[in-house]
Amino acid sequence: MNIVLLGPPGAGKGTQAKLLREYFGLWHISTGDLLRKSIADGTKLGSQAKEFIEKGDLVPDNLVVELLKERLAQPGIEKGFILDGFPRNDAQAGILDAMLKKQAIVIDYVLYLEADEPIIIQRLSGRRVCKNCQQNYHVTNMPSQKDGICDTCSGLLYQRPDDREEAIKNRLLVYLRDTKGLVDYYKKQGKLLKVDANFDAPIVFDGLKKVLL
Ligand code: AP5
Ligand code: MG
Repeated sequence: MNIVLLGPPGAGKGTQAKLLREYFGLWHISTGDLLRKSIADGTKLGSQAKEFIEKGDLVPDNLVVELLKERLAQPGIEKGFILDGFPRNDAQAGILDAMLKKQAIVIDYVLYLEADEPIIIQRLSGRRVCKNCQQNYHVTNMPSQKDGICDTCSGLLYQRPDDREEAIKNRLLVYLRDTKGLVDYYKKQGKLLKVDANFDAPIVFDGLKKVLL
């Protein structure tokens, strides 16, 4: 099973992808995580992407596509994957279709997580991420057991630079301008499954399982 997760920043794509990965044994491919890793590793691509990410703008397509291609070429991908954060505009959707066609892979479902703006802002402004393993937490919704420390690997938790107020506002605008149109693109292909993502994570996950199974 190959899945695309679509939805605004803070809808819970990363959180639900982790649950789907564990439940269905799929690969989780997050372009945001791949980009943040490139920055942390100090690669050339990472340094080119950094400024765009911190402002909440989309990184140029060619850079993201390069990362995604590398990831999709790794062995094991045939087990199925969850794409989180890609595609993000019409051009990327076309590139993805062409890339998968070459590998004889099809997208089975596009899960559209819908969440309201006040909920999105509350989630993003309180998010903390592990520097080491990228696990997501939230200061009130999903706190770590020890303040500032990851439960899984004891890494330090930090606030993403694009989770500051100005960058959040810009990410929401970019989503409406460039990404939301993909809902219709996948609806026309008969692949879109919509889920209300305003509830607690386990309830949202139940909703996802209901539409998938
Ligand atoms: P990316 O990392 O993809 O960020 P995003 O799309 O803005 O989405 P988020 O990761 O912020 O939110 P999410 O939906 O994953 O929610 P999460 O589960 O973390 O992209 C970052 C940047 O990279 C982009 O702005 C762009 O610059 C660049 N980029 C990435 N892909 C690109 C592409 N294809 N093309 C060009 N540029 C690209 O949850 C958020 C918080 O809420 C967490 O704290 C979590 O604990 C909490 N939470 C989650 N679900 C719930 C729930 N149900 N109830 C309560 N709290 C919850
Ligand atoms: Mg995410």
